[in-house]
Formats: sequence, structure tokens, C-alpha cells
Amino acid sequence: MPRFVFLGAPGAGKGTQAEILSREARLAHVSTGDLLRAAAAAGTPLGREADGHIRAGRLVPDGLVLALLRDRLDRPDARAGFILDGFPRNRPQAEALATITPLDAVVWFELPSAVLVDRLAGRRVCTQCGTVYNVSSRPPRTAGRCDRDGAGLVQRPDDRPEAVTTRLKVYADQTAPLLEYYRGRGLVRSIDAAGTPEDVTARLRAVLEAAAGRGDAATSPPRRSPGPRSR
Ligand code: AP5
Ligand code: MG
Repeated sequence: MPRFVFLGAPGAGKGTQAEILSREARLAHVSTGDLLRAAAAAGTPLGREADGHIRAGRLVPDGLVLALLRDRLDRPDARAGFILDGFPRNRPQAEALATITPLDAVVWFELPSAVLVDRLAGRRVCTQCGTVYNVSSRPPRTAGRCDRDGAGLVQRPDDRPEAVTTRLKVYADQTAPLLEYYRGRGLVRSIDAAGTPEDVTARLRAVLEAAAGRGDAATSPPRRSPGPRSR
């Protein structure tokens, strides 16, 4: 069963690509950011505690994130394989993950920081369905409205400049060092995350197919879809 981690800086395109490739390969897309935002929107005790950290661009305490992750990986769809998007983000999380599951590959999204900042500044999300747009690279058909349901698009609170600065620093200090941790375990596959989303998907597909054939947890490569999806 294919088990992948997508790691990279905020705005590198992890969510965009995990959405596409998880659907293609019938893997669960497990985004701790999405899980935390859903908990915050639902007003659960965990979500209320996480909300201030997310808005400020800080990491949510490990115990809260791990509780959400374990629940999510226990759901039936994740038992056929998954893409972890945004987890782990520090050494304690990586060590905890190693006690939960083996991995086939950790895909490292490489992108210059100027491009990251532009992508985050332009990101807009649907208030209803969460579809992700970008004012430059993926604009909606009608400005400010979701193509799927016509609901309004908003900027994520943590995409405002102050929070972006904090997120990039947290990434450099706590998440980027995981590159060495996973290199030491022979799991890292780096990809160039620049170019159009379609270019990046093609690069990733090749990497995942190769890794799924080699990893100790893998049984089958991702299935190809007939073409790019609309979201
Ligand atoms: P999370 O939601 O994971 O945010 P992030 O890691 O900062 O990553 P982003 O979602 O900002 O970027 P992405 O790489 O997914 O980019 P996307 O595809 O959207 O986490 C948010 C917060 O939750 C954290 O700060 C923390 O507080 C908390 N949290 C989450 N996980 C945690 C954990 N494990 N531990 C503790 N706390 C945790 O793309 C960005 C934009 O670029 C979009 O507009 C998109 O349309 C556009 N785009 C994508 N690809 C391309 C392309 N190829 N060309 C042009 N534009 C593109
Ligand atoms: Mg994301």
C-alpha cells in the first residue's frame, strides 16, 4: 500500500498536488492543515485551541495534531494508502510517525522563497467548499466567486504578510531540518515545484510511480487518470 509524505514550505503546492494525485491514485489525502481548520470551524475544543496558533502562523502543539492524525489514519480509506500533506513538521512528529507507519517516500517540494510568497499572497479559498484558487495562476471564472458553488472567496488569515513571515521562519527552523532526518533513512525524493501545476503533477507522478514500486510498504503504483482534473 502506497504511503507518501509531501513536505515543503508554505505555498509550495503540496495541497494542490496531493488533491490531484490522491484522486488519481485512490489514496487518502491527509492534510493536517485541513483537519485543523475543519476542527476550528466546527468549534471543537481541539479546534478552538488550535485556531490562535494557526492564525499567528505558529505550529499547533504536537499532541493535538497527533491525536487528529491518528484518528484520520484509522479511517478505512487511509488503509489503502495515503498522501500526508503538511505532516510531519518537526522532529518529534517525524519520530511519532515512525511508530505509526512505514513510508515509501518523502517528496520534497523545492521552490525559491520569492515564488512562495507570491503564491501565498495570491491564494484565495472558497468559504463553502474550500476549493483553492490563485488570483494569478488559477483565477476563478468570475472574480471573487467559486466556480463550483458560487460562494465567496476569501484569503486565509494566515496568508496575511505577518503570519506568512512567521510560517516561513517556522518552516526553516523546524521543518526543513527533516530533510536530513529522512535523507538518512533513504526516503527523500526531491522535485522541482516550479512551473505550471500540470508540469509539477507530471514530475510527481513519475516520482510516486518509481517509489511505489520500490518501497517496503508499496503494493501498487498510482493509477493514471485520462487528463488534468478541473480542481
Ligand atoms: P497548512 O494548511 O499545511 O499550510 P502550509 O504548510 O503553510 O502550506 P500551504 O497550505 O500554505 O501551502 P501548500 O504547499 O499546500 O500550497 P497550495 O497547494 O495551497 O498548515 C496551516 C497551519 O496549520 C500551520 O501554519 C500550522 O499552524 C497548522 N498545522 C498544519 N499541520 C501542522 C502540523 N503537522 N503540526 C503543527 N501545526 C500544523 O498552493 C498555494 C497557492 O499557490 C494556491 O493559491 C495555489 O493555487 C497556487 N499554486 C499551487 N501550485 C502552483 C503552481 N505550480 N504554479 C502556480 N501557482 C500554484
Ligand atoms: Mg496546503
